[in-house]
Amino acid sequence: MSVEIIPCSETMAAEVRGVDLAQPIDTATAQTLLDAWHEFVLLLFRNQEMDNQQLKSSAAWIGETSQIAMPVDRRGDDDVEIQKVSNILDEAGKPIGALGDGEMWFHHDNSFTPAPDKATWLYAVELPSSGGNTMFGNCYEAYEALPADLKQEVEGRRVLQVYDFTVREKPARDELDNIPHCWQPAVVQHPVTGRKALYLDRLMTAAIDGCDKSESDDLLAQLFPYIERVDYEHEWQLGDYVIWDNRCSVHARRNFPADERRLLKRGKVEGDRLLAAKAAAG
Ligand SMILES: [Fe+2]
Repeated sequence: MSVEIIPCSETMAAEVRGVDLAQPIDTATAQTLLDAWHEFVLLLFRNQEMDNQQLKSSAAWIGETSQIAMPVDRRGDDDVEIQKVSNILDEAGKPIGALGDGEMWFHHDNSFTPAPDKATWLYAVELPSSGGNTMFGNCYEAYEALPADLKQEVEGRRVLQVYDFTVREKPARDELDNIPHCWQPAVVQHPVTGRKALYLDRLMTAAIDGCDKSESDDLLAQLFPYIERVDYEHEWQLGDYVIWDNRCSVHARRNFPADERRLLKRGKVEGDRLLAAKAAAG
């Protein structure tokens, strides 16, 4: 069967048909997938059946599997490549996974590390009867939508990305001693497509450099709405495998009934240091 790539929305995401990720992927198919992934930012593969071993090589057409950043004591098991995103409790009442319930604000995965993961995948194993959709925003579009004065204001700046695994809120910029954090370009240049993408988000961006706290807060408050766009909303079905580019997209989760079980498996592809976008000429 030949590979079909079917766009899911005007601005982002495509469904791939005719590929079984559990099987080895030939070079030509790998290139087709990679080109489509760079073009559409997110690819969806439905009806996939994969055990953990197969999942671990499911994104080999993008790169090397990355190790999970979340501390072992916060994520239910000690697999270093596959994380369970789940609200399910084991017989002792202990969570089998992490980030189990509730909604999550838009964010870029691992932006608080020096070389954030290039890709993240999620694979649906158990789903509630409703809710829990994952929303995705295209950050190329977010950058392009900025008015000229904001574009000029943000280009060439850096943002402080922080994430405290123990809380859902963002820590203050002066309380960072024991919390993972990293300065990143506010606008990144994608190393393959060359396109510019806005790289900040309400969950993890605590400050923007070159201004005092109130200026920084004001500027970020103006910028956040541009990143919080729903270019594609994924309604999960069992066997769905979704893989997205963290350099040029954000994602967020809608709430779902807390008394229903949800289990997704999650893995990542290693990334490099982000490139700052070159300032626009003139
Ligand atoms: Fe995430």
